[in-house]
Amino acid sequence: MSRTPQDSPGLTVVHDAAELVVGPDEGTGVVVLEDAAFAALDGEVVAVGPTDEVLAEYPVADADTAIDATGKTVLPGFVDPHTHALFAGDRSDEFVAKLRGATYEEILADGGGILRTVDAVREASDEELAANLTGHLDAMLAHGTTTVEVKTGYGLDTETELRMLSAIDAAGSDHPVDVVPTFMGAHAVPRGMDAEAYTESVVSDQLPAVAEQGVAEFCDVFCERGVFTAEQSRRILEAGRDHGLTPKIHADEFAAIGGTDVAAAVGAASADHLLHTDDEGRDVLVEAGVTPVMLPGTAFGLGADYADARAFLDAGHEVALATDFNPNCFARSMSFVATLASVGMRMTPHEAIRGVTSAAAGALDLDDGTGTLRAGSPADAVVLDVPTASHLSYRFDTNPVSTVLKSGVVARE
Ligand code: NIG
Ligand code: FE
Repeated sequence: MSRTPQDSPGLTVVHDAAELVVGPDEGTGVVVLEDAAFAALDGEVVAVGPTDEVLAEYPVADADTAIDATGKTVLPGFVDPHTHALFAGDRSDEFVAKLRGATYEEILADGGGILRTVDAVREASDEELAANLTGHLDAMLAHGTTTVEVKTGYGLDTETELRMLSAIDAAGSDHPVDVVPTFMGAHAVPRGMDAEAYTESVVSDQLPAVAEQGVAEFCDVFCERGVFTAEQSRRILEAGRDHGLTPKIHADEFAAIGGTDVAAAVGAASADHLLHTDDEGRDVLVEAGVTPVMLPGTAFGLGADYADARAFLDAGHEVALATDFNPNCFARSMSFVATLASVGMRMTPHEAIRGVTSAAAGALDLDDGTGTLRAGSPADAVVLDVPTASHLSYRFDTNPVSTVLKSGVVARE
């Protein structure tokens, strides 16, 4: 992950929060403190607790940055663990086609969808690509996201996939939001090729070049009916793992064709979408310790049934949430995702908060405390202009974020 270096931020104190979310509880929710504060030194949390106790040790008068959160709620900065945020072009006409009855799979099979974005990305300059992503990172930050995963997959050839990774690296290194790059050469089968031949070229041509470039951390595959089979997905993810890339998988979005078994077999960090995952698929993921990532914005945008988050949660397993931001799902706000998770999947607001913070960090294998506000965590936090944490899901009109702190520094207010 490219962590953008900050000037030494010194002492940061956020105090008098009506509610402050610390991190996961023993169940599937979060620990919430009332009338609470946290202090951070040089970007790392050093104290969390009742305001009077924190301020006794770290007085506001000594702080380089002090935020009075009276009447407000403080959460760990949001982690968005699944996006296709680097793209070019405009596919709003497909939105209209879908309203008239076309399906996502029909559009893709006709050479539209992902393949149209591939055309636009191949034509875009390096600068344009990086600038497009920077604009989206700005919007994400304004909505409280402090860490985001960004996939390639609109290049579908070695040269353009590498250009996408460079653009992700360039935009990420220059922005307060931390960016986690994922190689997804197996996002679609390019025109004029069959899936088998393309799988071979991802394994033999793209992956070695991606590994040599050294930007990507994860490797993802669209394991789906009409795209990549379970066997092809497994081959690609194993090859990626051999090159040092941690596997992730798009599984069961339109049909369950074995993506959950592949996720378990390759030891994926996460399996994402899961709209058609049955009890057996769920057990396979849980057993293998694969984080389920649900993307309610995609179901909302497609008018599809939502994933069965409750099946995981009622069995005691956390669920991570992501925007899936892409031209087919124009959503950059994790607070909107929290609302959809609650309204569409019956996740409690506290389960949704865990989904957009620590569970999401788990889907990215981040074990440095990202997604929590505990001693030792990065001081990435979002101050919401709402009286309780539950308002994150409850409100879906305006952006509830009043201040975003990244590594102890005010990154947005
Ligand atoms: O996760 N399903 C595959 N990929 C994206 C959609 C990308 C696109 O349509 O451009 C997804 O939904
Ligand atoms: Fe996706």
